[in-house]
This record gives sequence, C-alpha cells and structure tokens, in this order.
Amino acid sequence: MGLSIRLLAMIVCCRIMVIAAVTDPSDLAVLTAIRSSWQNLPPNWRGSDPCGSNWDGINCTNSRVTTLNLAGTGVRTNEIGDIPSLTMLQYLDLSNNRGIKANLPQSIQQLHNLTTLMLVGCSFRGQIPDSIGSLKKLGFLGLNNNSFTGPIPPTIGNLTNLTWLDLSDNQLSGLIPITNGTTLGLERLVNARHFHLANNKLSGPISSQLFNSEMKLIHVILNNNQLNGTIPASIGTVGTLEVIRLDSNSLRGRVPQNITNAKNVNELYLSNNNLNGSVPNLVGMDSLFYVDMSNNSFDTSDIPSWFRLESLTTLLMDKTQLQGEIPSDMFHPQLERLVLSNNDLNGTLDIGNRYSSDLIVDLSNNSIANFTQESGYNMSLK
Ligand SMILES: *[C@@H]1O[C@H](CO)[C@@H](O)[C@H](O)[C@H]1NC(C)=O
Ligand SMILES: *[C@@H]1O[C@H](CO)[C@@H](O)[C@H](O)[C@H]1NC(C)=O
Ligand SMILES: *[C@@H]1O[C@H](CO)[C@@H](O)[C@H](O)[C@H]1NC(C)=O
Ligand SMILES: *[C@@H]1O[C@H](CO)[C@@H](O)[C@H](O)[C@H]1NC(C)=O
Ligand SMILES: *[C@@H]1O[C@H](CO)[C@@H](O)[C@H](O)[C@H]1NC(C)=O
Ligand SMILES: *[C@@H]1O[C@H](CO)[C@@H](O)[C@H](O)[C@H]1NC(C)=O
Ligand SMILES: *[C@@H]1O[C@H](CO)[C@@H](O)[C@H](O)[C@H]1NC(C)=O
Ligand SMILES: *[C@@H]1O[C@H](CO)[C@@H](O)[C@H](O)[C@H]1NC(C)=O
Ligand SMILES: *[C@@H]1O[C@H](CO)[C@@H](O)[C@H](O)[C@H]1NC(C)=O
Ligand SMILES: *[C@@H]1O[C@H](CO)[C@@H](O)[C@H](O)[C@H]1NC(C)=O
Ligand SMILES: *[C@@H]1O[C@H](CO)[C@@H](O)[C@H](O)[C@H]1NC(C)=O
Ligand SMILES: *[C@@H]1O[C@H](CO)[C@@H](O)[C@H](O)[C@H]1NC(C)=O
Repeated sequence: MGLSIRLLAMIVCCRIMVIAAVTDPSDLAVLTAIRSSWQNLPPNWRGSDPCGSNWDGINCTNSRVTTLNLAGTGVRTNEIGDIPSLTMLQYLDLSNNRGIKANLPQSIQQLHNLTTLMLVGCSFRGQIPDSIGSLKKLGFLGLNNNSFTGPIPPTIGNLTNLTWLDLSDNQLSGLIPITNGTTLGLERLVNARHFHLANNKLSGPISSQLFNSEMKLIHVILNNNQLNGTIPASIGTVGTLEVIRLDSNSLRGRVPQNITNAKNVNELYLSNNNLNGSVPNLVGMDSLFYVDMSNNSFDTSDIPSWFRLESLTTLLMDKTQLQGEIPSDMFHPQLERLVLSNNDLNGTLDIGNRYSSDLIVDLSNNSIANFTQESGYNMSLK
C-alpha cells in the first residue's frame, strides 16, 4: 500500500514535470548549446524550459520554437550554432548585433517554415548561401549592413513570396541575377515591393529583363555600385514605382523616355553617372518631388519646361550642361532647394514673388550678371 502510494505520487509528480517542461527536447538542446557558447544573452535564459518560462526573444507553438528574436540585445558569437535545427522557426531576427561575426551556412535551408529572416547590421561575412532559395515561405529578407561577399545567389529568384529584399551595404559583387536558362533571376519576384542593393560592388548592366509589368516594386535602390550599360526602358513598365535610385554608378547613354511611364515616382536619383543625349524630358511625372541628375554628360540644353513642375521640392542639376536664362516661373512656393551650380546659365536672375521663404539656391559657377526681385529679398542664395 505504502509503496503503491509512493509510486502513484512519483507518477503524478513526473506527469507534472513533463507537463511543465513544454519545450521540445531537440529545440531545447539547440538553445542550451547557444546559451553556453554565445555571450550577452538575455538574463532570463535560465532553467530548462524556454517555451514554458518565456525566455526573452523566444516564442513557441505546440512546444516548438517558432520565433527567435534577439535584435539589438548586444549578443556576441562567432557562429550561429545549430539555429538551422530549429526547424519550425518562422521568424528569425538577430539584427543590430555587431558582435555576431558569423557565416550564414548552407544548412539555413532547413528552416523551411521561415517567413522572416532579418540579420541587419551584424558582422556576417562570407557568401550568402544559395540554399536560401529553398526557403519558399520567406516574405522578408534583410541581410543589409553586413560584410557579405561574392554574388547575389540567383536562387533568390525562387522566393516568389518575397515582399522585402534588402542586401544593401555589403561587399557583394557580380551581376544582378536575371533568369537565363536554368539560372533564376530577380525579375521573378513579382510580389516584391523593395529591391535594395545599394552600396555594394555590383557590376555589369541593369538588364531590361529585370523589370516587367507584373511587378509591384515601389523602391528600386541600386546606387553606389559599379553598374554600367544603359538604363533599361522596361523600368517604365513598373507603374507602382515611387523611388528610383541609380546614382553613383557608371551608367551611360540616354535616359529612356519610357521612364516617364512610371507616373508615381516621387524621387529620382540619376546623379554621378555618364548619362548623355539630351536632358531627359520628365513632363508628365507629376508626383516628382526630388530629382538629382547632377554630374552627367548631357547635351548642352536650355532650362527644360519640366523644371516648372509644381510638385518639385528639391532639384539638383549640378554640372549638367545647362545654358541660357533661368525662367522666373520655375520659382513656386513648394520649391525648397535648387542647385544649378557649374553650368553655363546667364542673364538676369528673376525669382518672381511666389518663392518660398525657405528656398535655398546655389547658382555658383555660372555667368549670371544680375539679380532682381519683386518682393523683399528673403531666401538663401549662393
Ligand atoms: C512573441 O511573444 C510576445 C509576448 O510573449 C509577443 O509580444 C510577440 O508579438 C510575439 N512575437 C511573435 C513574432 O509572435
Ligand atoms: C511548418 O512546416 C510543416 C512541414 O512543412 C507544416 O506541416 C506546418 O504546417 C508548418 N507550420 C506552419 C505554422 O506553417
Ligand atoms: C549599420 O549598422 C550600424 C549599427 O550596427 C549603424 O550604426 C549604421 O548606421 C548602419 N549603417 C547603415 C548604412 O545603415
Ligand atoms: C525552388 O523551390 C523549389 C520548391 O518550390 C525547390 O524544389 C527548388 O529546389 C528550388 N530551387 C532552387 C534553385 O533553390
Ligand atoms: C505566400 O503568401 C501568401 C499570402 O501571404 C500565402 O497565402 C501563401 O501560402 C504563401 N506561399 C508560400 C509558399 O509560403
Ligand atoms: C546567359 O548564359 C549564357 C551562358 O552562360 C551566357 O553566355 C549569356 O551571356 C547569358 N545571358 C545573359 C543575358 O546573361
Ligand atoms: C561593364 O562591366 C562589366 C563587368 O565589370 C565589364 O565586363 C564590361 O566590360 C563593362 N562594359 C562596359 C561597356 O564598360
Ligand atoms: C515604352 O513605352 C511604350 C509606350 O509608352 C511601349 O509601347 C513600349 O513597349 C515601352 N518599351 C519598353 C521597353 O518597355
Ligand atoms: C552617348 O554614349 C554612348 C555610349 O557611351 C555613345 O555610344 C554615344 O555616342 C553617346 N552619344 C552622344 C550624343 O554623345
Ligand atoms: C559632382 O561631382 C563632384 C566631384 O566629382 C562632387 O564633389 C559633387 O558632390 C557631385 N555633385 C553631386 C550633386 O553629387
Ligand atoms: C546666354 O547664353 C545663350 C546661350 O549660350 C546666348 O545665346 C545668350 O546670348 C546669352 N545671353 C546673355 C544675356 O548673355
Ligand atoms: C541690375 O539690375 C538693376 C535693376 O534691374 C539695374 O538697375 C542695374 O543697372 C543692373 N546691373 C547690371 C550690371 O546690369
């Protein structure tokens, strides 16, 4: 009797312990290994039940770890450990931990339920593994601001659910992948809203194949690379575009007139390239508020009529071969910053009486002879 009561008590007790320890044993093993090898983990990573005792940054569903979010916690490690064995992870965010100096292993492909992979602003290095292309559920991929090298894996073109692709601020080189034979390309990412590839070492052309009318892109950010060739006319087929940044590359030839088909563009950056032909005619792009075409090799031109677009707040045309007089009707109340330095503008500057009191104008290195104003002088003029 006494024995069976004690047995019963043991069984009940074990049951309670089993019920209390809700974390799946293999997920527990992964987190325990991380706990013993990473530094600066959250102080409540104690005990043996991450799910049951709500370790910071961990969320679980049915005993399985589904979220690992250690963004901005200051954790330090030289390898990501066995995170790829947390096979039910849906959300992985290790962003803003400079002390994570790791490679991203091919085994990341085991995280087949992952919808969000954010490793922004750490010290990841080495290549982006091409196995990343098998994470078919990914919607958000942020690997920006690390030290990744090598090419953009063409397999990323497999991630057709991706809405956010940010690979900016790395050391990536090679071409922007487009589909060619069995090789995949980024033009397949028709649900993507963001292509951010700036501040890398990407080279070669921006293929016309990269853009199509199925796409829903709002931001195409490719500045500060080594891209060459011409701007593809197909960019105008993406009617959703709001920001186009192609500045500080080695793009040449004419700006395609089709760019004006992208009527929702607010910000257009084409500066610091080798663009030539006539200054692009942006008439019809009525949403533009920021335009920078500085430092290109356009044909000599008078002030084009689109400079009068009432939506413009900032217009930067430093060193763009402009000549003749500045028409007074291009000064309207929305215009805040006008840079027309290093051109061949002449005559009398008349800014009319509709200009904003916040207006900043730089006309240095031109041949302007005189200045008139219809109301009191009230702006910054260089
Ligand atoms: C994880 O759980 C916390 C509360 O415990 C909640 O605030 C957070 O939104 C959850 N995160 C995810 C991605 O489910
Ligand atoms: C995770 O993946 C498995 C197998 O692919 C699937 O059965 C399960 O429904 C997925 N879970 C979620 C929450 O998507
Ligand atoms: C990169 O991340 C660091 C913090 O880790 C931050 O200070 C820096 O501003 C970031 N750089 C860019 C370009 O986002
Ligand atoms: C693309 O995704 C499919 C699953 O939909 C997978 O079978 C295939 O291996 C992936 N291809 C690449 C190149 O990653
Ligand atoms: C893609 O996203 C849609 C909508 O969020 C979802 O219904 C679908 O299951 C996702 N596909 C994959 C392969 O994850
Ligand atoms: C497609 O691949 C072939 C063989 O690798 C190559 O010669 C060709 O230049 C590629 N075309 C494009 C548009 O990249
Ligand atoms: C464009 O860049 C690629 C790769 O760096 C190079 O091979 C090619 O010669 C360049 N083309 C031109 C016209 O400069
Ligand atoms: C350029 O735009 C015209 C219509 O405005 C269209 O017919 C043509 O196909 C476009 N070209 C490209 C390469 O998208
Ligand atoms: C513009 O640049 C292209 C490519 O560099 C060149 O072939 C063409 O002659 C140039 N056109 C003008 C008008 O300078
Ligand atoms: C034009 O190029 C010069 C040097 O080449 C640079 O100092 C200047 O900032 C550039 N202007 C713009 C607006 O990018
Ligand atoms: C301004 O420059 C244009 C074109 O170079 C020239 O035709 C015109 O005579 C000049 N006007 C003045 C007032 O110098
Ligand atoms: C500048 O314009 C003012 C007023 O229009 C005029 O009185 C003056 O003579 C002009 N100066 C020159 C150098 O043309």
